[in-house]
Amino acid sequence: MAYTVPKLTDYSAAALEHATGECIRSGTAEAASIQNEAELKAFRDRWLARKNGILTQINDSWLKGAPKEAKREAGFRVNELKVRIHELIESTERDYRHRAQIYDRVSSVFVDITLPGIRRPIGAEHPIIRTMNEIVSVFQKLGYSVADGPVVETDYYNFEALNFPPNHPARDTQDTLFIANQQSKPQRERLLLRTHTSPVQIRTMEKMRPPIRIVIPGQVHRNDPPDASHSPMFHQIEGLAVDTNITFGDLKGTLDHAMKALFGSSVKTHFRPSFFPFTEPSAELYVTCFICGGSGKRGSDPCRPCKQTGWIEVLGCGMVDPNVFEFVKDNGYDPKKVSGFAFGMGVDRLALLKYSVDDLQLFFQGDVRFLQQFA
Ligand code: PHE
Repeated sequence: MAYTVPKLTDYSAAALEHATGECIRSGTAEAASIQNEAELKAFRDRWLARKNGILTQINDSWLKGAPKEAKREAGFRVNELKVRIHELIESTERDYRHRAQIYDRVSSVFVDITLPGIRRPIGAEHPIIRTMNEIVSVFQKLGYSVADGPVVETDYYNFEALNFPPNHPARDTQDTLFIANQQSKPQRERLLLRTHTSPVQIRTMEKMRPPIRIVIPGQVHRNDPPDASHSPMFHQIEGLAVDTNITFGDLKGTLDHAMKALFGSSVKTHFRPSFFPFTEPSAELYVTCFICGGSGKRGSDPCRPCKQTGWIEVLGCGMVDPNVFEFVKDNGYDPKKVSGFAFGMGVDRLALLKYSVDDLQLFFQGDVRFLQQFA
């Protein structure tokens, strides 16, 4: 109900208090119902207009009409009321403008907030990254930390410090992709795409003194034409443990534990002699085929992943060759005092088997229909 100024007959303090209180209450209620610019203006005029505005009426009726002895008290009350009504009108205008600004901003971009939203697909780990993370976490639980190094490497780290002498035939087995136009540099500084994660063994030993236990996940490249089981870019996880008195028994125990953690406790491991310039002795590690369980057969069909042998090769490994320690001897790796083991595992082939994917290329083509299946 719109406010009308009552005539006062009682000018006691209590009566004046009641009258001013009623006035403020009504003004506040009117302010709260304002919906638009026109109503705001009407509100302001109704209360403040010099001619016949509510404050003018109050002034005329309550103050001028007051008996002499009540003038002082009435004057004080009416002045107080004026201040409060002015405050009310100012804050009402301020709030209104603020709301109008927000409304303008929202409506000017034509957002229909009733439309359904745009659902952004949440990404998922790529199956190779997921496999890598799983392998890394098995070693982290054994106290290994994670290291990494550059994919574009120098001849020194990829070969020389890993005991591949210049022109040694073992270099040929690596199918290296070289960076062009490096001939003017000394051989050890020439750039290439690292063919394995082993160079990070040297880089880490240059930075950290023994004892160390690290795993190194990363991309490597070799000059292999792409097909269902080869890719010029693939992934490895390197491992390195160096301490006093590390033995081949430690190597076998660690890797046997890791294979069981990765493929299940019934998996058997099998080491075969091999050769790498940077380990001596060296071995390849095989696990019982987790597709056929080691039988070489799937029902009456031959098991393809293990080529009917019942064994799958998962990594190369060995005891760090003392010649490798010679390159980092000054950082505490005296081959007479420390020993260690290293291993290098191919990740991509394991991911293929784990997810029963029959073409390695699918991992690298970025086809969302393929990748979505792993989300
Ligand atoms: N770097 C070797 C390869 O890529 C694997 C390996 C790593 C072997 C560490 C022994 C020790 O084939």
